[in-house]
Amino acid sequence: MIDEYREFADEFRILTEIDLSYYNQPQILRRLTAFQQKHRFGSLLDLLTALKSDPVLLRECLDRLTINVTEFFRDRDYWQVFKDNVSLLAKKKLPLRFWSAGCASGEEPYSLAFMLINMLPRTYWEITASDLSNRALTAAKTGIYLEKSLKNLNPAEIALIFDPVEGELYQVKNRLRQCITFFHHNLLFDPYPPNLDVVLCRNVIIYFTEKAKKEVFAKISQALNPGGLLFVGGSEQIITPEAFGLEREDIYIYRKAN
Ligand SMILES: C[S@@+](CC[C@H](N)C(=O)[O-])C[C@H]1O[C@@H](n2cnc3c(N)ncnc32)[C@H](O)[C@@H]1O
Repeated sequence: MIDEYREFADEFRILTEIDLSYYNQPQILRRLTAFQQKHRFGSLLDLLTALKSDPVLLRECLDRLTINVTEFFRDRDYWQVFKDNVSLLAKKKLPLRFWSAGCASGEEPYSLAFMLINMLPRTYWEITASDLSNRALTAAKTGIYLEKSLKNLNPAEIALIFDPVEGELYQVKNRLRQCITFFHHNLLFDPYPPNLDVVLCRNVIIYFTEKAKKEVFAKISQALNPGGLLFVGGSEQIITPEAFGLEREDIYIYRKAN
């Protein structure tokens, strides 16, 4: 199985530019095997052959592997702590540059834009948001969501953030969509945007190997201005933040040392 996985991973990298050797192998293998069985392929290499000639299957496989589950204000309690930390930072430095890295279909950067628009004048902040998946980025730019992904929002917030469109769909209002610049970015290989004040990198690197996680933390730290913040996911922690020039500021929040 290991040899088959290795062969699959080599070809998959050529096909998709995703290097599976940076991702946690047991997790990826579990998902790949389930996908292979669902589509009734006899082996990973049979699946690979089909992926090469079937773009729809390839897209479905990529979605399965990169897990793009997300929601507005995911782990809402931590967003309050995050907001308090951003307020403190804004007292020391403005304007602020935010980056939502691994933004999936956009719920995270739109939550951020909604938080900021109610906190600081528009000229005091800018948000960029990126993902590896072009499919996720297209959905993010369109900003249309099913009612179920708004579960953390109360009716007043829903009315402020969205315009209802047909059926049970809601589109993020234009004034919020205009606040975000989306771009394609692979955290493992692409250069990071410089001079950032706040990075949100949440529920993305949990799938990476320990080595890849360390590389990402080091690059994020390098991209942050002194005193800048890193907001990680609700099940993520940096065990030795000082190794990356970071200090633990609060639960799931790290600060770049001055
Ligand atoms: C579970 S979603 C997290 C979305 C959001 N940050 C949140 O916490 O709800 C993970 C996202 O990471 C993206 N991703 C996976 N590997 C990546 C990489 N190497 N570079 C950039 N994004 C990546 C996936 O495409 C997916 O959209």
